[in-house]
Amino acid sequence: MQTCRDLATLRECINAWKREGRRIGFVPTMGNLHAGHYALVELARQHCDAVVASIFVNPTQFGPNEDYARYPRTEQRDAEGLAQAGAAALFLPTVEAMYPFGAMGCVQMHVPGITDILCGAHRPGHFNGVATVVARLFNMVQPDCAVFGRKDYQQMQVIRYMAEELSFPVEIIPAPTLREGSGLAMSSRNQYLGDAERDTAAAIFRTLGQMREQCIDGTPVAQIEREAEAALQALGFTVDYAEVRSATLAPASRALDNRRVALIAAFLGRTRLIDNLEFEIP
Ligand code: PAF
Repeated sequence: MQTCRDLATLRECINAWKREGRRIGFVPTMGNLHAGHYALVELARQHCDAVVASIFVNPTQFGPNEDYARYPRTEQRDAEGLAQAGAAALFLPTVEAMYPFGAMGCVQMHVPGITDILCGAHRPGHFNGVATVVARLFNMVQPDCAVFGRKDYQQMQVIRYMAEELSFPVEIIPAPTLREGSGLAMSSRNQYLGDAERDTAAAIFRTLGQMREQCIDGTPVAQIEREAEAALQALGFTVDYAEVRSATLAPASRALDNRRVALIAAFLGRTRLIDNLEFEIP
């Protein structure tokens, strides 16, 4: 695996592959990697000839009270894991390379509508930061395809929308969520959970399953959401939202087809966990 710390080295590498006619896949990450990330690289390998992974802890997607400074930097371990998973190159841009005129006041992306709901409503500016850095990374890496996990369902939709509307020549490939045996979705944030919290956290996936069953049974969405929130609160979660939406994240009442997604974001102690479950109603 080639490690590229600046854009010139990355471009050299990518241009050589492109000259050989290789299809480039891309897996952007913020590091602190786990099995779920390595599965993204493995999926990307099935769709292209050379996978570029990036590690960049993006300051513009963290809110003022979020953990940017404390976000774990585990470059050496991550690089080993990425090489093992089969990445051909690792791009490690600095903040200065990503935001040459400074992260504050930089040119920004804003994907309207979809970024104002769910996580966007609870983390103002978060998706602007995500869309901004992903657009920059797409310009730098110039991939043919890029893999995003379904666990970050809203993020995946924001990026799909942005890529389509701005005609980025990048195929967005969604990757399934990897789960622990308990059903808990794999996430870098799980490491902040103690043993007892980890057991409790598995209730998120169980609650999503209940939301799906109720939806299929025809229970009104408002009731499903109320009951899911109450069930999680009873277990000690502080719930940001527990909602059922259409697959495009429009309100379920305005869905144009029978695809639905149940989504939860909730704090367990100081750790914010998100998960979702996609399904169809009869
Ligand atoms: O999902 C993430 O790890 C980040 O939001 C991403 C897509 C790498 C952008 O910083």
